[in-house]
Amino acid sequence: MKKVITYGTFDLIHNGHINILRRAKEMGDYLIVALSTDEFNKVKNKKAYYSFEDRKGILEAIKFVDLVIPETSWDQKIEDVKKYDIDVFVMGDDWKGKFDYLKEYCVVNYLPRTVGISTTKIKKDFSKSNG
Ligand code: CTP
Repeated sequence: MKKVITYGTFDLIHNGHINILRRAKEMGDYLIVALSTDEFNKVKNKKAYYSFEDRKGILEAIKFVDLVIPETSWDQKIEDVKKYDIDVFVMGDDWKGKFDYLKEYCVVNYLPRTVGISTTKIKKDFSKSNG
C-alpha cells in the first residue's frame, strides 16, 4: 500500500484544501494529514477559527482523508515519514524546496496551489463585507 502524507492548518475548509487533498490521495492509496495543533499554530503565527478537534473532525469526514495526526513541531516530519512508512510527501508549492531534505526517505512533491483562495482571503473578504 502506497502511503501519502501532507501537513497544514486546514481551517475554514475551502476548494484549495479539497484540491490538494484530492491530488495527494491520487498519488497513493492511503492519505495521512498532519494537522497543526492550536499550540503549533501559535508558533506559526496563525490563529485558526476552528479548534484542533473541530478541524480534525471536519478533515476526517472528507473522503480522501484516511488518518489525521497532530502536527506539533516543524521537525517531526522525518519521524512521521519513518513511523508511518510514507512513500510520498505532498505540500503546496508555497513550500517549494523547503522539505527537499526528506528526499532521502520518500518522494517529495510540491503541488501548485489553487489560485485565488486561502483561509486568510476568506477571513479578509468576510470582514470587509460585514464592515
Ligand atoms: N493550499 C492550496 N491551495 C490554496 C490554499 C492552500 O493548495 N489555495 C494548500 C497549501 O499549500 C497547504 C495546504 O493546502 O499545502 C494547507 O494549507 P493551509 O495553510 O492550511 O491553508 P491556507 O488557505 O493557505 O491558509 P492561510 O491563508 O491561513 O495560510
